[in-house]
Amino acid sequence: MALEVIILAAGQGTRMKSALPKVLHPVAGKPMVGHVIDTASGLLPTKTHVVIGHGSSLLQDFLSRNYLSTDEQPCRNLIIAEQTEQLGTGHAVDQAMPSVDNDSTVLVLYGDVPMIRQDTLEQMVAVAKHQKLALLTVEVADSTGYGRIVRNASGAVEAIVEHKDANAEQLAIKEINTGILALPASWLKDWLPKLSSDNAQGEYYLTDIIEMAAKLDLPITAIQPSCEEEVQGVNNRLQLAELERWHQRQQANHWMTLGVTLLDPNRVDFRGDVHIEQDVSVDVNVIFEGRVRIGTSVTIGANCILKDCEIADGTVIKPNSMIDGSRIDEDCEIGPYARLRPGTVLAADAKVGNFVETKKTTVGEGSKINHLSYVGDAIVGCGVNIGAGTITCNYDGVNKFQTDIGDGAFIGSNTSLVAPVKVGKGATTGAGSTITKEIPEGALGVARGRQTNLTSWKRPTK
Ligand code: UD1
Ligand code: CA
Repeated sequence: MALEVIILAAGQGTRMKSALPKVLHPVAGKPMVGHVIDTASGLLPTKTHVVIGHGSSLLQDFLSRNYLSTDEQPCRNLIIAEQTEQLGTGHAVDQAMPSVDNDSTVLVLYGDVPMIRQDTLEQMVAVAKHQKLALLTVEVADSTGYGRIVRNASGAVEAIVEHKDANAEQLAIKEINTGILALPASWLKDWLPKLSSDNAQGEYYLTDIIEMAAKLDLPITAIQPSCEEEVQGVNNRLQLAELERWHQRQQANHWMTLGVTLLDPNRVDFRGDVHIEQDVSVDVNVIFEGRVRIGTSVTIGANCILKDCEIADGTVIKPNSMIDGSRIDEDCEIGPYARLRPGTVLAADAKVGNFVETKKTTVGEGSKINHLSYVGDAIVGCGVNIGAGTITCNYDGVNKFQTDIGDGAFIGSNTSLVAPVKVGKGATTGAGSTITKEIPEGALGVARGRQTNLTSWKRPTK
């Protein structure tokens, strides 16, 4: 039976105190609603409906940038439903119903409950597909604010009573509604129009359908998550930070289990799609972002940021280095304080040292750029030594030009290479030269003022 997911994301999130809609606040670098959509997509739903309201233009931007294809054809079958007035969770689900197929199973998720796990949802959907109502509930120490799960004498779920509508006996119940449920779409289509807003909050509660189901003697199955954090909703920035820390620690534990040394598992952040091989050592305050692949026995020093990069086995990255959009082969040495910008490719055994910036540059095997240089739009051959203070002058204010440095070349310190320019194989540049013309293979290019010594010169006196 087809599955359709409805994600509620229309609420304002007043307590975030933010111009950004709550569900766009990130956990591990990704908006909360993005986590929910991605997890749901693992269930291969035929459609995913996102109910938006507050901050709808920003949400629409995010969704179309990440989840809708450019030709307006929704990939992943994402459908946006607008809830112009927030009249309650029941009303919110109802906004998506016109485009929900009658014979599907519906799974309702919250955009502000980002850590929900796919296997928990799979259990719920499996239950709901057998014409049952699956409800995700959890026992908490403090149930303040939540809907309480009311069970009858034989333990069957009878109703959900919202905190504000609960009597003293119901308030004492510790089993609460997480808000996540799954059921046949046809039941929702029957029941949603029958909801009333005659309650303490004057809202159309989705939770009222539980009592409707119980009265019809339809089976209700309560399922529990693997841990409380999985169903933790975010209402303010404190809860957001707590969930972020929890999620980060989960990932740190995962990588340690797989043979990665984290010098302090509480001081490393994984924000994206990261894969790390065995015997990698990661010092404190390292941030992984985007798609990152780290080979075996790589060493990463303190305070490094590694974004969208591949680092092959045995490479050593020293502290305070930033690597972005780059590919690094085996046994390279980078940093401290190196900045590798997008398009940097280092072949094996290359060295990029302190205060060196590279961009759109290929560096050949065993080549060294050890200190204080900018190398952009360049092809550097093998076994090249680039002296301190070398600059590729790659930009005339409008266009970018390429610098080619042949194998075995030696670039003297403080050379300016005015691109487009070529330095032949085995060629040398004199320190302090401004190179504007090709240097042939093996030649020395010197382009600087000759030194004159004035022996009769007197230093001014006061
Ligand atoms: C809801 C449940 C409660 C449960 C709690 C778990 C109801 C009536 N109550 O309460 O039983 O314990 O969640 O956190 O369902 N939303 C909309 N449109 C609306 C109202 C809400 O999209 O008109 C969205 C919100 O953005 C949010 C979610 O639905 O993502 C839950 O809304 P919220 O107001 O937080 O529900 P609670 O009152 O906390
Ligand atoms: Ca809530």
